[in-house]
Amino acid sequence: MKVTVVGAGNVGATCADVLAYREIANEVVLVDIKEGFAEGKALDIWQKAPINLYDTRTVGVTNDYSKTAGSDVVVITSGLPRKPGMTRDDLISTNAGIVTSVTENIVKHSPDAIIIVVSNPLDVMTYAAHITSKLPRTRVMGMAGILDTARYRAFLAEALNVSPKDIQAVLMGGHGDTMVPLPRYTTVGGIPVTELIDKETLDAIVDRTKNGGGELVKLMGTSAWYAPGSAAAQMVEAIVRDQRRVFPVCVKLEGEYGIDGVYLGVPVILGKNGIERIIELDLNEDEKQLLETSRGHVKEVMDALDNINASKA
Ligand code: NAI
Ligand code: 2OP
Repeated sequence: MKVTVVGAGNVGATCADVLAYREIANEVVLVDIKEGFAEGKALDIWQKAPINLYDTRTVGVTNDYSKTAGSDVVVITSGLPRKPGMTRDDLISTNAGIVTSVTENIVKHSPDAIIIVVSNPLDVMTYAAHITSKLPRTRVMGMAGILDTARYRAFLAEALNVSPKDIQAVLMGGHGDTMVPLPRYTTVGGIPVTELIDKETLDAIVDRTKNGGGELVKLMGTSAWYAPGSAAAQMVEAIVRDQRRVFPVCVKLEGEYGIDGVYLGVPVILGKNGIERIIELDLNEDEKQLLETSRGHVKEVMDALDNINASKA
């Protein structure tokens, strides 16, 4: 299996590293626009192979997409990250230009690839990649839900003093402050979380999850990479190993949850064909309302991108 990761920055290099040391692919091609940057990162990861004992070959290239030809999966992480004071949506114009040109190159050289978008604003960059690629919606998706649920699960594990391995959760909506964590579908070793934690603590954890990305930007001056890179690699693994994992993934909705034409995180089954199935949960009225707010926000940013594209045409 061959996997390309575009963008050799914090998230892309972390993703390539996880793909290599966990031997998720035989070959990982790292691409960046900065001369020598991807080559250096790929070489460093390759030189770790004799220490960490793996044989995935990592190769870096500067903007040379011929080396990415025939990739099975492509992860797009190229773009600007958030700086303190910025929202993910502030990145829209620059990152849409980057994601669009990268997607054109990918599809040209790897027409059969499945594309996983990571660049922000995530839901709208997934939209940009999807319309550019003209691929079926099952093959162009965005990574955010695994990261957001991981944050939620980590906070819960800490509060309950239990292993994060035993916390199962699902979260829906856009990747932003309007995301919709679903405590009703959260369990700890099979026990509903609401039986183990008081409402006030749970509400505080839901709130901290919604602002989880911003918390890290404030601490580090740029956005996170270890968990995001690992989350993207976990999606690649589910696809290349046809694991049929159930994850929250951003995809274009076409009538599911009563929503049409908007890209939102929903639980899906991920396997060799990409999104094998979208799972429709029976949401209660409050949850539906939260999802509707999230839909409205993502749609606004999609419209902003449409306006930018129209003004360029
Ligand atoms: P970074 O600045 O460390 O890396 C981005 C890389 O993209 C840079 O090396 C840059 O040279 C490269 N790049 C820019 N234009 C390019 C092009 N046309 N072709 C190839 N490479 C190009 O940023 P970081 O921290 O890796 O974040 C990457 C993106 O991922 C950002 O947009 C960030 O907001 C987003 N992100 C999304 C998350 C999610 O949950 N979906 C989580 C964390 C970050
Ligand atoms: C994050 O959630 C900024 O999307 C990035 O860490």
